[in-house]
Amino acid sequence: MKKWMIVAGMSGLLVSTGCANNGNEESGADEAEEASSDASGKNNGEGQEETEGDTEENAEEAENDGRSEAGEDPPETEENGDLENPSAIDALINREYHLPSDYEPENLVIPDVAFPFEGEPQKKYMREKAADQLENMFAEAQEEDIELSAVSGYRSYDRQESIFAANAEEDGEEEANKYSARAGESEHQSGLAMDVSAASVGYSLTTDLGETEEGEWLEENAHEYGFVVRYPEDKTDITGYQYEPWHLRYVGKDLAGTLHENDWVMEEYYGEELEEESSNGEEDK
Ligand code: DAL
Ligand code: ZN
Repeated sequence: MKKWMIVAGMSGLLVSTGCANNGNEESGADEAEEASSDASGKNNGEGQEETEGDTEENAEEAENDGRSEAGEDPPETEENGDLENPSAIDALINREYHLPSDYEPENLVIPDVAFPFEGEPQKKYMREKAADQLENMFAEAQEEDIELSAVSGYRSYDRQESIFAANAEEDGEEEANKYSARAGESEHQSGLAMDVSAASVGYSLTTDLGETEEGEWLEENAHEYGFVVRYPEDKTDITGYQYEPWHLRYVGKDLAGTLHENDWVMEEYYGEELEEESSNGEEDK
């Protein structure tokens, strides 16, 4: 069983600030789309009690000896944590399971959906399969008068490296780790992730999205199109990232349905365990 470390205190509730993107393109600040949005959602230290206590659920987990509830084995990796099959639709990508630095997905296309900016920057792209389903999802949402907007999709390894560096520069490395993935550890490099927002929150990537009808619609319906809200509010201690109601990951309809039905994140499906350690600033460097 592989384990990965997480700094303590990330399971706290987040304060949404409604802070908006600054609209800058192609600078670190652009991706401060991610940064600004959620860097500003600070952990207020609440919510940790919920994870404590000798509940039946805990006892069951102990009995399972850390096995995945779904009985699924996590993906195979090289010794350095690089996935052996990085293009798998159901690939687990996080701080433990990495995309190789030279991995570039095939069949990247721009989905025919609304974006709040012009041009054809890299971040408009997604893998074709995911793009097709994103189009279906946006069209169906529109039928129900839900107007969604795509904000940030594919990012190369190098671009993610620059984004993380800019975020760390802005907020410090420890803080950046809570909302920004290091190069190789971001689902955006897979071409299977798209950050989605709406006019009602100024197209920003803010936790406020979760309270809007668009955010609620995504949470309830995304699985029908093979997507999951990858970093839910009540799973921050498992995913290792703070609440991101905008970050949608394509995993295929079967897995998305299973995750939705069981209220699992991918780490639970694959039986991943996190070890919480007191934060001394030395983790995840
Ligand atoms: N915001 C997510 C964790 C990423 O950087 O991929
Ligand atoms: Zn994202």
